[in-house]
Formats: sequence, C-alpha cells, structure tokens
Amino acid sequence: MEMKKHAAIFWERLAELDASDYKPYLPSQNELRRPPTVEINNTCNINCLMCNTLMAKRQKGVIKDDLLIQVLQELKAEGVEAVDVHTIGDPLANPRLPQILAVFREVGMILVLSTNGLLLERHLDTLLEYRDISSHIRFSIDGATKETYELIRAGGKWNDLLHNIQLAKEELLPRGYSISSNMVLSNDNVHEVGQFIQLFRQFIDPRWMSFGFMNSLSPDTSYFHRVNLFPEATFPNRPCQLPFRSLWVHHDGAVSSCCRDYHGELIVGDIKNQSIRDVWNGHVLEKLREAHRKGEVKDYRLCDNCFIVDDRIVALFNALMEYLVRKEPYGPAEYYQEKVDRFTEIIQSGGPFEPKFSQPMFVKEILSIR
Ligand SMILES: C[S@@+](CC[C@H](N)C(=O)[O-])C[C@H]1O[C@@H](n2cnc3c(N)ncnc32)[C@H](O)[C@@H]1O
Ligand code: SF4
Repeated sequence: MEMKKHAAIFWERLAELDASDYKPYLPSQNELRRPPTVEINNTCNINCLMCNTLMAKRQKGVIKDDLLIQVLQELKAEGVEAVDVHTIGDPLANPRLPQILAVFREVGMILVLSTNGLLLERHLDTLLEYRDISSHIRFSIDGATKETYELIRAGGKWNDLLHNIQLAKEELLPRGYSISSNMVLSNDNVHEVGQFIQLFRQFIDPRWMSFGFMNSLSPDTSYFHRVNLFPEATFPNRPCQLPFRSLWVHHDGAVSSCCRDYHGELIVGDIKNQSIRDVWNGHVLEKLREAHRKGEVKDYRLCDNCFIVDDRIVALFNALMEYLVRKEPYGPAEYYQEKVDRFTEIIQSGGPFEPKFSQPMFVKEILSIR
C-alpha cells in the first residue's frame, strides 16, 4: 500500500511533465516569486570545477552593515520573509558572519545557507546562537568518495567534509536545524549516486537530497562541455525564468538578474540609489525580459552562453530518486545505482523525448515502477 502511494507520486509527476510543453514556460507576468538573494560575500574557500569563482572579475567583498540593513528592511517591507545569501561564493567563508547574522536578527529576516560545509566548525557557535533566524543548511556535495569529491570540489578535503557533516549531525540537528544536500551530476560523479545515498543518509534524510545537472554559467565552460551527461538534451536557456522571478543583490549594492553573475554583466539597478521596487519595475530589467520573451538575447553575453539540461529531465530524475528512497530507504548502493545507470542510458540514447516521457517502455519495463 505504502509502495503504491510512492509510485502514485511518481506517476503524478510524470503526468505533469507530459502535460508541459517542451520549451520552458514563459511567465505571463512579473512576480517576485522566488525569494530574492542578498549576497553577503562573493568569496569562496575552494574552487569547484563546475563553478570556478576564481575567474570572476567582480571585486571580491563582504556586504557592509548599513547596506545590509537597508536592503533587508526594504525586502521586509515588501513582504519577503526569507532570503538566500549566496550567488558565487560561500557564506561560511564570510569572516563577518556573526555581525551579519546580528543584522538579520535585528531586522527579523530569515536566511537560508547553501554551503560546501567545509568551514562549518569555525561558525558552529554562531550558528547555534542564531538558530532563530537560520535553521536550515544545504550542503553542496558532489561525490561519495575522496577521489571524486576532491577532484570536483577542488581545494576541498574529503575528511574535512566528513568531520563537519558529523558535527552538523551531532550539534545542529538536535538543536532544531534541518539539513539537506545538493549534488550536481556529471560524467565525473553520476556513478556514485547510489554510494552517495548509502553514505550520507546517516546525516541527511534522503528525501532532502536533491540532484541537479550542470549548467554552463561558469566563465570557463570547458569542464561543462567535457562532462555534461546529456549534451543531446541541453538547450539554450531562453526564455530564462530568472528575470521574471527574482533579483540578486550583490555585496556592493548592484542588483543582478542572474543567480551566478561572475563579472556583473546583468546588472539591472543599484540599491544604493534605487528602491528594490524601482529596480524590479525599471526599464533595464524590462528590456532584458523582452529580449527573453523574443528569444533574442545576443546583446546579453551571459544569457547568450547559458545552456541547461532540459528541466523536465531534472524533475524526472528527482522524482525517480524520491520514489526509490521512499520505497527502499535502507537499500544498498547498488539498488539506487542500477536505476540511475538505466535512466542515464535511456536519456543518452535519445529517449524518451517523443512523444511523451511516460512511454511504457521507459517507466514500466526499464525503471520497474508500477
Ligand atoms: C554557486 S554555489 C554557492 C553556495 C555555496 N558555495 C555552495 O557550494 O553551496 C550554489 C550551488 O550552485 C551549484 N553549482 C555550482 N556550479 C554549478 C554549475 N555549473 N551548474 C549547476 N550547479 C552549479 C553548487 O553545487 C551549489 O549547490
Ligand atoms: S560551488 Fe560553492 S563552494 Fe564551489 S566554488 Fe562555487 S561558490 Fe565555492
């Protein structure tokens, strides 16, 4: 009965995907749907291959308190209750984290941390002190072995990760924190998904593990092209949803329309002399939206070079993983890996794009989801 329920969730997700158009959905109006991001720093302690923040030309820095107070108060007045605090860079690499969290508390704004986790121990006391405004941490982990992790998360040490995630389990989880993970998949690590679930489920509820596929946003796209799992299902990201959905306030007050604007190429305003609302409704952002509506983005280098894996594949993969970990929460690594390998093989061999995702061969016979 339980199993049927999980399968039903998977089938529902599949039906939604079948009903959706091949091209990305174009928002009919501009709504600040996704919480805005306030970048508290753009510095990082490591340099992951698919991200490569070292190549960013934007000046490195940490947000100043007065600017932070101004932007948080403005967002609060707009009804925003929680913000992300990263673009490129790692929030735990911010040496002023305690002061920054004090500002968040003063304004009454919640923040969500996404981090490589390697500097968690340094901030443990701070995180415990401010758990009223910061109670969720997403660990970005792209491997289940020392070799793969240290290859992709360049500069990161596998043993440091294990130590810090253990600390999170012992110190943060019992005091009200929740923990999730994000793994960016590529040819370099897709073979470790099963092992990843088996190893990290002692720290993270597998239902809170999300899996993404790499996009081409890094200034150096050579790694992306070398290890992209699904080149045949990779498309120009237009119309992109982001200009219609959210804003990224940089540490110096400039506002970008892209989640990973390494060089400040998509700046649509500046909160030092404009309100957030004015930026959101301003002509610079509207011009960008219009370019995306028409699919003519050649004047925007960043957008013109932005490629993503068909987001239905991402959704389907995550639906599959959710089904598997609900059905077999304590299965061996091979159980999950076998399905991941089959999934990858099918998508790589060109299917099942047409006519529908839910071709019986794909779902019933190959993935054995009934
Ligand atoms: C840019 S990082 C910044 C926050 C923090 N340093 C971290 O690693 O979580 C935010 C997320 O983007 C992911 N990411 C980095 N480069 C990516 C790429 N080329 N494609 C897809 N996701 C990527 C990371 O794995 C991470 O989960
Ligand atoms: S993904 Fe995060 S940890 Fe890795 S280089 Fe980018 S900002 Fe740093």
